[in-house]
Order: sequence, then structure tokens, then C-alpha cells
Amino acid sequence: MQSAAPIDMIEELTVAVGAAHVLVDDDVRAGYEVDWTGRYQGPCRAVVRPDSVEEVAAVIRICAQHDVAVVPQAGNTGLVGGSVPRPAASGARAAIVLSLIRLTRLGAVDTAAMQVTVEAGVTFTTWREQARHAGLDTPVDFAARDTATIGGAIATNAGGSRVLRFGTMRQQVVGIEAVTAEGAIVGSLGGLPKETAGLHWPSLLAGSEGTLAVITAARLRLVPWFQHTTTALVAVESVAAGTRLLATLRQSLTSLDAVEVIAPAAMRLVSEHLGRQPPVSSPEAVLYVIIDCADHGDPSEQLLDVLSQADGIIDSAVTTDAVQRERLVAFRDRITEAIAAASTEAGVPTFKLDVAVPIDALAQLIEVAQDAADADGCRLIPFGHLAEGNLHLNHIGASHPERIADTVLAAVASLGGTISAEHGIGVAKAPWLHLIRNPAELAAQAAIRAALDPGGMLNPGVLQP
Ligand code: LAC
Ligand code: ZN
Repeated sequence: MQSAAPIDMIEELTVAVGAAHVLVDDDVRAGYEVDWTGRYQGPCRAVVRPDSVEEVAAVIRICAQHDVAVVPQAGNTGLVGGSVPRPAASGARAAIVLSLIRLTRLGAVDTAAMQVTVEAGVTFTTWREQARHAGLDTPVDFAARDTATIGGAIATNAGGSRVLRFGTMRQQVVGIEAVTAEGAIVGSLGGLPKETAGLHWPSLLAGSEGTLAVITAARLRLVPWFQHTTTALVAVESVAAGTRLLATLRQSLTSLDAVEVIAPAAMRLVSEHLGRQPPVSSPEAVLYVIIDCADHGDPSEQLLDVLSQADGIIDSAVTTDAVQRERLVAFRDRITEAIAAASTEAGVPTFKLDVAVPIDALAQLIEVAQDAADADGCRLIPFGHLAEGNLHLNHIGASHPERIADTVLAAVASLGGTISAEHGIGVAKAPWLHLIRNPAELAAQAAIRAALDPGGMLNPGVLQP
């Protein structure tokens, strides 16, 4: 553990946000110092929980004066070690956790502009409830919706299941408010769809992982709320059959909302975890595909039509019933939870790689990943988002995670893929960033970072090869 914080810094922080929101006790800080998978952790001098953008700015200014690093955090659902302090052994300087969890204000939905302003600590579920209350919906959705927050999702450019229809988080941010390392408030929440006036703060900050400024609020795009959703679970005989099905779905269905993929190993694990069998299950299945179609009218007929004509399908189940859909979607949404339970049993945090390759390279990626897992002797659980060629490769009980990463990430890069598709680089992938960013790109990134944060106080170690 690090020595206690200089008393004057804690006093200044207390004046800025109130004593109840400067947490210094070991047991209270502990939950903020470790990520939820248990893989990444490090100490902080205090957890500071400001209630407004002005308080965020005051906290950052105090930290700058005391040369203390700032690690932004809210839902702490990150999977790449970017939302918890760096380990003491890494020689990292003292840090505070800047918790945005109290920034939960919601603006009124503008139904004509189809936009709403929300603060950084608002969860995805709350954002969605707010949108639906106004008859609209949110364009981004993913399994961690109850805990994950807007600020982190923008900072990591999160994706999820609706990317094929609406894009990633980056595409939803029409206005942003953030605080720089010098405590200046930048951006605008006006949300004008057309504004060409040079630097665009939402574009700069989406994907910056807390390194350029701390996001405090955003103006976000909303989409129509489709009242009819049809969901299908399809077992396919090969990866090629899965990608052919994807192509047909995209060409034929304007209602296509999600095309998710589950490897048989992941289906077995989640079935055991849920204690029930999926409606479709076959020993011959090479992949399971979950398809959502959503529209103002019932899209079932068109979906059934495509499925009846597609080749390479072993079996399928289709439902429009809300309860049945929920039971089916659980086989997708609860895989991460099933993996966490299996990790606890294995006694070692799961090693997770979030990668994407061009769709026609998906079969090769699966092969390389399986070989690497077999060489290590660990259990590989792949699932993800078929339309983006995005697989979450979960290694349960891995003995040599770095070796697996060396092999798999090099293969991903040579297949024209990316070493992070939606979880971010964090500290987890930083050593491999050079595989997809050349020296000139890395130098430019470092220069932009130094210009905005000359002291290197914002989330140091993250995104740094
Ligand atoms: C998901 C998260 C792990 O797809 O990205 O469920
Ligand atoms: Zn995902």
C-alpha cells in the first residue's frame, strides 16, 4: 500500500466536493481499486466523487497541483484495466479514482431532434428508459447495460449488438462536455447535426479512454423505438454458412437489428450456467447465430423467408413472444456472467481478448485462437458480434496469457483485423498496439496527448505502448 495522501490535498478535495465524497478508508476504496473480473488492480489515495462539471474541474486542478494522476471511473465494467489505478509495482505515480457515479442528471428528450443530454454517470438502462418514456430508443445496447455508464462507453467507443444498424458509440455523440487536465471545460451540448467549425470534440474524445479529458456529459442521438422484435436462434454447419446467412440478411431485411454469434463451447457453458437447454442445439453446429429484427410492423415473415431459403442451416427457432425472447436472449447476454462463474471455479481471472477481423477471415481467426488455447491447455469460450467480425475470446484457466496474446493478436493484425473492437486498449492491450498502429501514428497520438495533458496526469499507462 502507498503511504497516506498529503493531508492538504485531501483537505482541498474535501472543500471541493464535501467530506462524504472523498473516500480514504482502505475498505471503502477497495471496491474502486479492482476491476470486476479481478484481473486488474492498483491503489489510489482517495476516491473522489464530484457532483457537477465544476466540481470535476476543481478536483482535476487540485490533482494537477499535487502531481497526482486521475483515473476516471463510473460503472467499472471495463475489461482492459483502464478504469482502475495502475499496480503499485509498476512504479506508477500516486493516483485518485475520479468517480463520475454521481453525475446522473438526464435532460428532457427532444423528440424532433431525436436527442437527449445525459451526464457521464447515467447507466445504459436508465438512458434507454428515458428514451422509451418519450417513445424513442437508444441506438447502442449491450449486456452490461445495468451498470455500464455513458462516459465510459464514449471513452472506449463501446459497440454492442446494434452496431450493424446504428454504429458504435462514436456515431451517437452529437455533443460533449469534458474537463481537460488544466481544469478547463470544453465542448458543447448543443447537438447541432450540422456544424463544421474545425475540431470536433466528440470525435476527438470518443475512444480516447480518459487520456485527453474527462467526459462529464454528452448529447446523444436517439432512434425510433420499434414495437415489434422477432428473434431467431440458428445453428449453422460452418463459419462460411454463417457469413453467407449474414450477407443474405443484410441484403434482404431493413429491420435487421443484431446478428450475434455464439461458439458451441460458449453455448454449452451458458446452458450449464442457466440450467436449461437452448431451443436449438446440435452436435453438428459449428456456430450459433442469434438474429434480431425490429420494426414498426411484425418483421417475422421476412425473416422466416430468408431462413427458409438459406443453405447451411441445421436448425432454427424463431419467436416474437416477449417472455420467450427474453429466455432466448439470455443465452447471449449471460455468457459473460457464466464465464465469471467458471473463472471463480478455476481460481484465476479469465484472460479476455476482444478482437475483430474482416468477416471472410473469421474461420481462420477461430482456428488460430483454438490452436493457441490448446497449446496453453486452457478452455476457450468465443462469442461476439458476427456482422463486425468481432469475437470475444475468453480463456478460462490460462497459464500463459501473454503467449496467447502474442500469437492471437499477431494473427489478427496479419489478417487485417484490430486488437480491440469495442472494449478498448486500456493497459491490457497497450503492449500490442504497435501491431496495428505504425510509429508515425503512435508519435502523433502521443503528441496530441502531450498537448492536452502536458503533465501526463490523465489515466497514465492507458493506450501507451
Ligand atoms: C458482450 C461484451 C462482453 O458482447 O462486449 O457481451
Ligand atoms: Zn461485445
